[in-house]
Amino acid sequence: MTQIVRTIHEVRGFVSDCRRKGWKTGFVPTMGAFHAGHLSLIRQARRECDSVIVSIFVNPLQFSAGEDYDQYPRQLDRDLRMAESEKADILFCPEVAEMYPKGFDTYIDQSDGGLPSKLCGRFRPGHFRGVMTVVCKLFNMVRPDVAYFGQKDYQQYLIIRRMTIDLNLDVDVRVHPTVREEDGVAMSSRNIYLGPKQRKDAGCLHQALRRAEEMVSNGESSAARVTSEMKRVINRVKGARIDYIAVVNSETLEPLKEIKGKTLIALAVRIGKARLIDNALV
Ligand code: PAJ
Repeated sequence: MTQIVRTIHEVRGFVSDCRRKGWKTGFVPTMGAFHAGHLSLIRQARRECDSVIVSIFVNPLQFSAGEDYDQYPRQLDRDLRMAESEKADILFCPEVAEMYPKGFDTYIDQSDGGLPSKLCGRFRPGHFRGVMTVVCKLFNMVRPDVAYFGQKDYQQYLIIRRMTIDLNLDVDVRVHPTVREEDGVAMSSRNIYLGPKQRKDAGCLHQALRRAEEMVSNGESSAARVTSEMKRVINRVKGARIDYIAVVNSETLEPLKEIKGKTLIALAVRIGKARLIDNALV
């Protein structure tokens, strides 16, 4: 049975019991509205750890004014059933007032030119500061041995990994491959914002990435040629607005002219009300 836990005090109690038994704790932080991507992280945690804690918290700090904080889907009953099917032990769902009580005034950030300033950071100012702050707090509450993140948000994974190293958080941060719908669209809680036509159009992100991978495996090494081909694929869809298409070093996120070594190809595209992201490591 998966147990719902609402308070920091209760989650700490559960974790202390596990520690006393010498158990390895796996942690999957989420904002809920589960799909197969979330479940694959929970499954991986179940495989590798003795106890599995999943958090659901729609973190107001990582949404800026005008973003979808209010509309973000909240469906706890469904999420509980899904977490149960993956045998999670605890579903930790703290209230905003407990996470950010009156007087809260400490934030986690990285330097101005650092990882949070790249890619999505250019279009969502303050977003990663909000993510780092909440994940740092959650890590301190849950004190996991291992934490699981999805490759779909690869920049987020890199930033959290940097944070745990820099702040000596002693958490093993692991990344797990992106889970996709049958047509290749990366699963996302935000896909529900798409109408049927837009949902079909959303396939262009995946198509652009597959085209890029194909070019690279055929020996193409010019980042400019790869991005302009990807742009062409996206622009075939009327109403798709590109935030960025980037070819970057997969550790530093610095732009590359030539594709060599570990490279991340990433893009963000707006379709209707949804901002969609996807990436590939080549
Ligand atoms: P959320 O968007 O709910 O995602 C929770 C975790 O699921 C993240 O690690 C994300 O990368 C992963 N995920 C999302 N879609 C995926 C997919 N299609 N395949 C594999 N993994 C996928 O990311 C957040 O929440 C928040 O920023 C959070 C880290 C919880 C901090 O608030």
